[in-house]
Amino acid sequence: MSTTSIDSLLHEDRRFPPSPEFAAAAVAQPGIYDEARADRLAFWAARARELHWQTPFTETLDWSNPPFARWFADGTLNVAENCLDRHVAAGIGDRVAIHWEGEPGDSRSITYAELTREVKRAANMLAGLGIGQGDRVAIYLPVIPEAVIAMLAVARLGAIHSVIFGGFSAESIRARVEDADATLVITADGGWRKGKVFPLKGAVDAALAAGETSVKNVLVVRRGENEVDWTDGRDLWWHEQLEGVSDEHEPEGFEAENPLFILYTSGTTGKPKGILHTSGGYLTQAAFTHKNVFDLKPETDVYWCTADVGWITGHSYVVYGPLANGATQVLYEGTPDTPHPGRWWEIIQKYGVSIFYTAPTAIRSFMKLGREIPQSFDLSSLRVLGSVGEPINPEAWVWYREIIGGGTTPVVDTWWQTETGAIMISALPGITVAKPGSAQVPMPGISVDVLDEEGVHVGKEAGGLLVITEPWPSMLRGIWGDPERFRDTYWSKFAHLPNGPLYFAGDGAHLDADGDVQLLGRVDDVMNVSGHRLSTMEIESALVSHPIVAEAAVVGASDETTGQAVVAFVILRAKKAGSVTATEASTMLRQHVAEQIGAIARPREVFVVAELPKTRSGKIMRRLLQDIAEGREIGDTTTLTDVNVVQSIRGTLD
Ligand code: PRX
Repeated sequence: MSTTSIDSLLHEDRRFPPSPEFAAAAVAQPGIYDEARADRLAFWAARARELHWQTPFTETLDWSNPPFARWFADGTLNVAENCLDRHVAAGIGDRVAIHWEGEPGDSRSITYAELTREVKRAANMLAGLGIGQGDRVAIYLPVIPEAVIAMLAVARLGAIHSVIFGGFSAESIRARVEDADATLVITADGGWRKGKVFPLKGAVDAALAAGETSVKNVLVVRRGENEVDWTDGRDLWWHEQLEGVSDEHEPEGFEAENPLFILYTSGTTGKPKGILHTSGGYLTQAAFTHKNVFDLKPETDVYWCTADVGWITGHSYVVYGPLANGATQVLYEGTPDTPHPGRWWEIIQKYGVSIFYTAPTAIRSFMKLGREIPQSFDLSSLRVLGSVGEPINPEAWVWYREIIGGGTTPVVDTWWQTETGAIMISALPGITVAKPGSAQVPMPGISVDVLDEEGVHVGKEAGGLLVITEPWPSMLRGIWGDPERFRDTYWSKFAHLPNGPLYFAGDGAHLDADGDVQLLGRVDDVMNVSGHRLSTMEIESALVSHPIVAEAAVVGASDETTGQAVVAFVILRAKKAGSVTATEASTMLRQHVAEQIGAIARPREVFVVAELPKTRSGKIMRRLLQDIAEGREIGDTTTLTDVNVVQSIRGTLD
């Protein structure tokens, strides 16, 4: 998408103010915006002081060496203590922290006191395996309580976790483990998905067998009870290692800027970026946003975020935000439609879920299945609904509110990224008059702008590029091992402006007549498939790694359910082209991408073509391919070397 084409097609007049009762009782009251505007840094310092600091900080922000920010840097805290021991000490140890629901129907409720003990034992065990401050631990687990326990135990020791989504392939695990030089991998034999056990440990074995590795041990949680291969001396059962380990563990205070985790995400090049987050600022903003955006009343609410812990949403709004706030939450292992398409609604009914946070792609799939399914469950406990991951179209927004929310619940559309660590733009449910399809307002204490390519503010009723103009507590602190890439990727686009440095998020946005922000999607070579980021280059690299492929181009084509879908165009190697049919090649290559990256990256379609459209300078014109993939009239071809190429691709597809 070019800036000139960024504009909103949305003419949405429906408005949904909060009810007077909701507004009166809301956690966030209108004065919060004034407080933040009056003194932004004092506002964040006050939020940070709601955490437990072992050594109080005296300096809020050090921005003397941009873009490297330091927040609350002379304070010390223990992140796990803030999520656990603090609540037990405050007398709420008996509150359920996690209602865990396994896909086959097994379940477990864990109180704060129990979770604290489990994390202490796990921390002692990890320390016994040599894990200490700064060490990297890769976590490749299903959504089971041990995933949360492992993350918190790593955090408790001041070590750094790198959670790898359970759907990623051996190749992806290898790249991530290698980039971070992880010394320990925590995995499971398998997990439950769509009524079957899917193996996990095998992928870790394959990843580590592919060459020299920094990994000394693999800890294996028993979940799927499927057969696993075993490497003596390296592999250890989680439950055996915990036997007889003490549940006494003093939380050490670490500097606020002690790294907490690395999470890999797709960028515009083939190599995933290890986004680095640190402790004090991250926890401050995760906890603050969780409480205010979802209007959390921890004594009475039951919260459920459907994200996998392998994504940033799972980090900030399953683990750190809710636990820092002492919330009771649901954690569900499986898929929404197993064993029946009403599983999610059944879970809401079972636990009396009152706050629900999910992605537009899920909402759209439920819309397709029809309202009868949710309407056959009691969803009356719900009082706040959230959306994240991609733009939510107004129809899905309204359906969500009407059918899931009984026509009364506020819906908050939350914009943020792996890099931002926590929610940046969102309505506040007791204050904002909601507009379907719009994230609307920056959070208190957050400053954003929408600029044109030259860096000029676009004004109202105009579109441009979304930037963040001031540092924020949960901002990424860098890309693991690559400070230059950090500068280039996020801070170089508007480096020439006097009011810089500005963070460029990679998204297009539109300001409406009220000055509210509506997000329009990525403007770079990053696709958004079901709310997950995938880079066109990453998938192209996977395709050309197959021996039959000479050249590949990948685009994100709009898709009714997943937002965007991966569509690939490939040229086969002359020698191999004759030996397979286009259909065989397509099937083979879709599978190959799934093996190289993971099933989420599997292209919806792979078209075998004779040529790819290129500019005179040799760049593939993805915009044209996107037009073709979406069946649109072809746009401007004046810079194309050979206009016939497009006609010939069209011919292949007809
Ligand atoms: O394009 C935006 C889109 O998701 C991207 C960030 O992806 P990721 O780092 O995987 O984090 C997803 C969960 C926070 C953004 O650059 N995005 C996320 N939330 C929204 C969104 N686009 C529009 N509206 C949203 N609410």
